[in-house]
Amino acid sequence: MDNKQNIQWFPGHMTKTKRRIQASLKLIDAVVEIIDARIPISSSNPDLKELLQSKPKLVLLNKCDKADKRATQLWVNYYADKKITALPVDCKTGRGLNQFVPSLRKILDNKFEAQQAKGLKNPILRVMIVGIPNVGKSSFINRVSRLNRAKVEDRPGVTRGNQWYTISKDLEMLDTPGVLWPKFDNQKVGEYLAFTGAIKDNILDIELLACDFLELMKKHPTDSFLKRFKLTRDNISSVNGYELLQLIGRNRGMLVSGGEINTERAATLVLDEYRDGKFGNITLEYPEELS
Ligand code: G4P
Repeated sequence: MDNKQNIQWFPGHMTKTKRRIQASLKLIDAVVEIIDARIPISSSNPDLKELLQSKPKLVLLNKCDKADKRATQLWVNYYADKKITALPVDCKTGRGLNQFVPSLRKILDNKFEAQQAKGLKNPILRVMIVGIPNVGKSSFINRVSRLNRAKVEDRPGVTRGNQWYTISKDLEMLDTPGVLWPKFDNQKVGEYLAFTGAIKDNILDIELLACDFLELMKKHPTDSFLKRFKLTRDNISSVNGYELLQLIGRNRGMLVSGGEINTERAATLVLDEYRDGKFGNITLEYPEELS
């Protein structure tokens, strides 16, 4: 499949974003990177580490409501090994977010103390949210920000034009998140972003995409996947992605005149149902892929 030619991130946009993040780095004490718990590799940004230099980072494994619990824990452990705190969260319902401020505080403890030692009575620590499109940045900001934005006019050292949300009495968040770009130099990344709905379907060949998704599902079919499409492990083991798509279309009665199977409709159905979590909680990337 050749998604690569269709999925692009404009270099000009990337340079502008890099510059904006670099400028904001001077104003903040830590960065919160939001990634998708189902695809932690494909939804993270390859250049962020270099961009952040020594800034502390907290990772939010968002959409954990749609990810496999065991896999999410493996990712938490993976990050812990790298001395990075990663929190599984669901920004749609707010689950897990009660750990956000305490975790951030732990990460910023030294900084806080250093500021107090310098004589700053009530130091305020500031964070910035970053993440690729559709990963849940706005949902997160809406969840954790208090209704009022912090007032900027009487804050020394705060650049004009930047607005801050109050998270707690000593913690503020930049109101505009940094929109990062995914790493499209690996074809798999584009596919995985499309499977999870982070990239719009209309720029992709939906049938090819569904076939590749079904190749993945075939390896580890969940019971709910098999049941929804009246399949068995046996009857999918020897078919390829396209044949499986045809089977699904047939079993769901998606026929066009002449009795042919409407594989385009079947493809849309398969991907929609995966994104809706109808096949259960499925993680597509595991830490072992990085080793
Ligand atoms: P962005 O700012 O990073 O671009 O992402 P945004 O918050 O707009 O979220 C993108 C989509 O992901 C939204 O769905 C949002 O509701 C959903 N989302 C965010 N966090 C979570 C989560 O933890 N779990 C789940 N299941 N979904 C999450 P949408 O389809 O665009 O809107 P809607 O369905 O909420 O109306």
